[in-house]
Amino acid sequence: MDRILIRGGRPLHGTLPISGAKNAALPLMIASLLTEDELTLANVPRLSDVTNLGRILGNHGVDVTIAGKRTGDDDLVGQTVRLNARSIVDTTAPYELVSTMRASFWVIAPLVARMGRARVSLPGGCAIGTRPVDLLLMALERLGARIEIDAGYAVIDAPKGLKGAEIDFPKVTVGGTHVALMAAALADGTTVIRNAACEPEVTDLADCLVKMGARIRGQGTATIEVDGGARLKGAHHTVVADRIEAGTYAMCVAMTGGDVMLAGARPELLQSALDVLGQAGAAITVTNEGIRVARNGHGIQPVTVTTDPFPGFPTDLQAQLMGLMTRASGTSRITETIFENRFMHVQELARLGAHIHLDGQTATIEGVPVLKGAPVMATDLRASVSLVIAALAAQGETAVNRVYHLDRGFERLETKLAACGADIERIKGS
Ligand code: UD1
Repeated sequence: MDRILIRGGRPLHGTLPISGAKNAALPLMIASLLTEDELTLANVPRLSDVTNLGRILGNHGVDVTIAGKRTGDDDLVGQTVRLNARSIVDTTAPYELVSTMRASFWVIAPLVARMGRARVSLPGGCAIGTRPVDLLLMALERLGARIEIDAGYAVIDAPKGLKGAEIDFPKVTVGGTHVALMAAALADGTTVIRNAACEPEVTDLADCLVKMGARIRGQGTATIEVDGGARLKGAHHTVVADRIEAGTYAMCVAMTGGDVMLAGARPELLQSALDVLGQAGAAITVTNEGIRVARNGHGIQPVTVTTDPFPGFPTDLQAQLMGLMTRASGTSRITETIFENRFMHVQELARLGAHIHLDGQTATIEGVPVLKGAPVMATDLRASVSLVIAALAAQGETAVNRVYHLDRGFERLETKLAACGADIERIKGS
């Protein structure tokens, strides 16, 4: 297994390119199942989750091809992926494949919408709480699907096709909204999705579905309307920039000091995080090229933050912010409201010398003047990068083990950080 070694204490300088968003690329790839024509996605990040989803889609009969590299192409620029689901040969998504990545459960929506049936293993994914799928199944039932749970699988059918309906989510769910959108696009009649997720990745999926011929209004707001039933066609779509990656590197710079241009980052997609970074003492400047983040000699100021659905502070940046606050000059409070068990980074940060006290869903972080490098273990995707942030400021060497968590969601993290002056390297495991 690979490890990442970091020797802390170097400020970051330069330009760091922001990749396409993993959380947009995954549902967009799944949307290819809705049409017999080709869907071309540009700016797809090179991540293990993307490769795994390609395998899962291949199992259903989707031809997935990655466009070859052309002269002059930068390795850090995303890839173009062509997906063609002309014929779906299998409507079962088996445990061995779905258990590696929770988002792959979402194939249930296009499969039942197009083929009238599916058998999809209940998901695995990051160990950040129970993460049920009841609301995803509720949405499909509202559209007329029948669902049974059998031996760890959701077995779903809709022999007469899906019908538009009102779907009222009792709580905001990104996956639920993706599923509702994809199914409603092929369902007969109008669907109204209430309390829909407003996350930019949901809007990106809706925009791509519109290019494919779907009639959708209200994406980016809490009420989305879909006039379904039209045959969807192929399209070309560029994956939106990864706001979580941008926020993560912004926190790296806030931690180490220095001056970095996050090229291609979209400030309007992470305003709440930029506001928090401003309070923490980082200087944020928005330019045509992206977001410039700098911190000069002044220390990191403590903050009080609660995670919330978009446009609130994202749960996917909670661990990173905690990493940053371990070095603040004072006491910070971070409350997690989206997932009930998303604090696994706390004990690993403590190994580097952080002082964090957990009380229910709130972490109190007493900033310390010095962190010291140590071996630590990545426990989930976002938690693992919080260890990287802390290690960038720690004295001595930190070895981050179980790097495969990072590789699920951060494209060539060590290359991007090293190019900005970090002392970081990957040690290949056997
Ligand atoms: C997506 C993101 C993940 C992010 C999360 C919240 C992807 C691939 N993953 O995950 O990175 O942290 O949004 O922004 O895009 N819930 C239920 N029942 C359900 C579905 C969800 O109770 O059927 C609950 C969850 O347990 C959680 C909350 O709703 O407490 C939000 O989850 P949801 O938005 O669905 O997260 P994901 O779509 O899985």
